[in-house]
Amino acid sequence: MLSSSFRLQPSAFSLSLGILGSGQLGQMIAMAAKKMGHRVLVYDLLPGGPAASVADEMIVAPFDDEKALRDFASRVDLITLEFENIPAASLELLASLRPLHPSPHVVRICQDRVLEKEFLQKHGFPVAPFRVITSVEELVAAVRELKTDAILKTATLGYDGKGQVSIAANASVAELQQAWAALHAERAVLEKRINFCAEGSVIVARSTSGEISSFPPQENSHARGILDVSRAPARFSEKVLREAEGMGGKIVEALEVVGLLTIEFFLLPNDEIIVNELAPRPHNSGHHTIESSKTSQFEQIVRAATGASLGSTELVKPALMLNLLGDLWKAGEPDWKPFLGHPEISLHLYGKKEAKPGRKMGHVTFTGEHREELLQQAKESFKS
Ligand SMILES: Nc1ncnc2c1ncn2[C@@H]1O[C@H](COP(=O)(O)OP(=O)(O)O)[C@@H](O)[C@H]1O
Ligand SMILES: [Mg+2]
Repeated sequence: MLSSSFRLQPSAFSLSLGILGSGQLGQMIAMAAKKMGHRVLVYDLLPGGPAASVADEMIVAPFDDEKALRDFASRVDLITLEFENIPAASLELLASLRPLHPSPHVVRICQDRVLEKEFLQKHGFPVAPFRVITSVEELVAAVRELKTDAILKTATLGYDGKGQVSIAANASVAELQQAWAALHAERAVLEKRINFCAEGSVIVARSTSGEISSFPPQENSHARGILDVSRAPARFSEKVLREAEGMGGKIVEALEVVGLLTIEFFLLPNDEIIVNELAPRPHNSGHHTIESSKTSQFEQIVRAATGASLGSTELVKPALMLNLLGDLWKAGEPDWKPFLGHPEISLHLYGKKEAKPGRKMGHVTFTGEHREELLQQAKESFKS
């Protein structure tokens, strides 16, 4: 007797993707992977988290739990990550068991500002003048030598402007002692404060076969050290856009990244570009690609890591992205109704259980010709 349904073998195309980290970046990678027919297993220290709500399964364990890491690897075909602060030994272990994209070598450099800056400098990419600092004596000497306002940044574990202290060119020894103590770091970078006219980022993909493709750069503005708004296209000259993409491609090649690399940069008034930092993964400034681009940054990482051909990075709709931080929840959850009835507004909420000041709870993407007005209206509505 003929059956009215077909029993399918698991698709040859479908893979099991492991994601280290259960935050919003992991969530959006998982959504893209699921759309493409893959299974998703998420690994994080705490249960729940935005990615867990999308993944097929989750492993809850510390990032240095060898048994749990081995179990994770045994249940997936390949692994990627949504944040880079994972112990090097754990990454080495995972990479010995399954393809890990990006590789431990790439993550090791990107998770340490000293190694990152030294790598960039060695390969001739422009960075802000900096000094490596391991003691208050070195800090005092470096401040006197640089003779400029500067920023002291922890070598590891900093994010969203955390782990940074402003240093005045004429800071006293007592002030520098205080700054060093406040940082709670063993190693840090002191870098010149750059008088930039704009900030930007460029997201570049490199696949397992070495194919490289860059998204058009976006323009970013920060508030209190945290990304506030990203604009695509960036309001930069053609020359800057081309240079940023070209530089991105060269950095990705020099690092031999497989996956995505985001290059944050400062733009000087004379159109010079200075590389700020690197992130070996999808980036907050690329969230707009979900609506604005033929291929989102999340689909692109899945394509790059699984060995599929890379998707087109064409920007098909101009877009603005506004981050929604926990501060907006001060008097309860904001009223989202105005964000839901407009064809050029896309609201993304990550489903986090608790809102805290500075915590990224969601974002909104505004597209189309009225996007700047829509952004202003949204910002006004949050003030009231
Ligand atoms: N050397 C600098 N000069 C001027 N502003 C800086 C400098 N370094 C960082 N900033 C500002 O602080 C923000 C966050 O610093 P960043 O180094 O990117 O650290 P994070 O890892 O927190 O993103 C930057 O996007 C920029 O706005
Ligand atoms: Mg940054």
